[in-house]
Amino acid sequence: MVYQFIETELKNHYLTISINREDKMNALNSVVLREIKMAITVAETNDEVFGILITGKGQKAFAAGADIAEFKDFDISEGTKLSRDGHDVMNTLENCKKPTIAAVNGFALGGGCELAMACHLRVASSNAKFGQPEINLGLIPGYGGTQRLVQYIGKTKATELLITGDMISADEAFKLGLVNYVVETDQLFDKCYEILDKVSNKSPQAVSAIFACVSDYFNSDKNGMNSEIESFGKRFQTTDFIEGTNAFVEKRRANFRK
Ligand code: COA
Repeated sequence: MVYQFIETELKNHYLTISINREDKMNALNSVVLREIKMAITVAETNDEVFGILITGKGQKAFAAGADIAEFKDFDISEGTKLSRDGHDVMNTLENCKKPTIAAVNGFALGGGCELAMACHLRVASSNAKFGQPEINLGLIPGYGGTQRLVQYIGKTKATELLITGDMISADEAFKLGLVNYVVETDQLFDKCYEILDKVSNKSPQAVSAIFACVSDYFNSDKNGMNSEIESFGKRFQTTDFIEGTNAFVEKRRANFRK
């Protein structure tokens, strides 16, 4: 697939999606968002892909937000559509059955922070910076930021960051629980691959079931406890359960990807 503003590379069963607008701090215009959604959708049905890593090209930015130039003259209906489309992309990521990791290599602001938050896990390089600066534009986050930031770091600090627009360092993001790890810049991808390797050896069917149950905790239309009970029961009819329990009895490592 040829894309205009993202690059994709499939290596060792991991798909890396790199936002490729380095001169614009990898700002997320509508084409970038559409292409990310397309790449995720394609990867989800490709058996060769075990996990997905999202990053930004260059040393400065993961993504510095939605493309301000693109929405500057929007009216209410265009603004609402922008937000709906953004939510759709972020939900595609969050609901992806395969593990997604944001490799945050610089500024993750506005929509960039929201993109990172829509991934299952986040690893930040030590120079990364996070924030929701929409308030400075007379806006609010539109790609799920008012909701996911609260989920990750709690109402107190999330509200402060949302109404001040303050940026926080990678270390502070780690302390607040926004990122899973902070590593030196040259270790960023190795750390992501290390995590993906670990998860790839586990049951893919159970991993995606866990993503769904965890999401249901935050979904007011769902009862997470019931989701878990139903999903737990369904495991007993999966090939991964048969392999996992046989491997245990036979005192060998389970091979879920035969
Ligand atoms: N949308 C559109 N263009 C953006 C952008 C965004 N969100 N963020 C950066 N850019 C563009 C700049 O306009 C500039 O383009 P130009 O060279 O054609 O003028 C280029 O990227 C480089 O950015 P610049 O501001 O010169 O870099 P900097 O190192 O001085 O500052 C940031 C970096 C990230 C702090 C700054 O670009 C910034 O605050 N960006 C906006 C963040 C934001 O408000 N995001 C939420 C949007 S809803």
